[in-house]
This record gives sequence, structure tokens and C-alpha cells, in this order.
Amino acid sequence: MPRIKIAPSILSADKSKINEEIKEVEKFSDLIHIDIMDGIFVAPTTVNADFVRKIRTKVPLDVHLMVHEPSNSYIKEFIDAGAYSITIHEEACRNPAHQLNFIRKNGIKTAISIKPKTSLENIKKYLDMVDMVLIMTVEPGWAGQKFINEVMPKVRELRKLKPKLDIEVDGGINPYTARVAYDEGANVFVAGTAIFGKKDRIGAIKEILNSLKQ
Ligand code: DX5
Ligand code: ZN
Repeated sequence: MPRIKIAPSILSADKSKINEEIKEVEKFSDLIHIDIMDGIFVAPTTVNADFVRKIRTKVPLDVHLMVHEPSNSYIKEFIDAGAYSITIHEEACRNPAHQLNFIRKNGIKTAISIKPKTSLENIKKYLDMVDMVLIMTVEPGWAGQKFINEVMPKVRELRKLKPKLDIEVDGGINPYTARVAYDEGANVFVAGTAIFGKKDRIGAIKEILNSLKQ
């Protein structure tokens, strides 16, 4: 299985002082997860590429596009803003191969995501085009929801199919659910509330990491 990676989600951070917030977790973070919501694919809206451009950190930026049919120029804005990886949603794109090819052609990491009720079958044809798959463990759109256990068979099946692929889980991740997902084969853990919702952010990350060691 590939290396464990921790990806704090800034959806739960104080965006008015985002660089300070990131600085606090930087040392123990492998990725910084940035949720982009368009008000169409998911009801809420969040930050845009201008916000991403202002982030100052050495930690790679993992951009999660919860966006309906993102165009090349829309995607390019995030690449130019410093994204390390861009994740698109299978359900949001008529032909996800188009977006995945465009992302890859621009030299950054590509990923595809599926919502809890979407079958793994829908993305099997894209597995050789991506560096990572994001298996949503809540309905996308909001922080602080409960981890959906029923999604775990997809993680297990995907790990069997792709022993070396980065498999990311996002939504309701805490020390306990991270362990559940890890045991099924996930290795990239996004956590918003469980990290930025705590006073001691480093302590919170260490708790997640410890739960994976035991
Ligand atoms: C939800 C977002 C998540 C969110 C997770 O749509 O994709 O990244 O920030 O938040 P928690 O960890 O609180 O469930
Ligand atoms: Zn996310």
C-alpha cells in the first residue's frame, strides 16, 4: 500500500487568516485539501482560484472540484494558482476523460471522485488515467457530517484492483473512521472538523496518525 498521507481540509479553517491556519498544520501535513464548490453540483459555494493563489505554503495543494462540467480555462486557473493535484467528480462531467486529459497535459496530478451512492464501476475505465481516486465518505457539500460506512466495500475493491494507487477518503474522518478506512485500503485522509475544529491541531493530526499505527 502507498504511504499514508494526511490532508487537512481548510473548509473548516478560518479563511480570514488562512496562511496562519495552514502554518499551524504544515509540519504534519502531506497535502492541504481545498474544497471548491460551485453552487450547482453542490448547493454551497466556497473559495475560488484567487483565494488559492494567495496561499503561501510548501505543502502541495490538493484541489477538490465539486463543480459541474469544469471547463479547460476554469481548471487552468487552479493550475496557475498553484494546485498540485486536481480532483474532478465523475457525476459532474459528461466525459470525465476530457478533464482528466487536460489536467494531466498540464503536468499536475489528476484524480477522480465518486459520491457515496455512485458505483465504482462508473470510474473503472479511468483508473489508468489518474494518480488518485477520492472515495467520498459523506455527500459532498458540507463539513461536519457523519462518515458513511457503507462506502467501504468500494475502497476495498479499489485497493484490490490497484495496489499502488493513492486512495483518498473525505468526509467524517476522525481517528476512529480513519482506521476503518485504512483497514479497507485507503491511504490519503482528508479531515476538516477533526483537525481545524480542534484547538490543538497538531495533537489532532497525531491522534489520527496514532490510530493508524496500532
Ligand atoms: C465535503 C468536503 C470535505 C469536508 C470534510 O464536501 O469535500 O473536504 O471539508 O469535512 P469533515 O472532515 O468535517 O467531514
Ligand atoms: Zn473535499
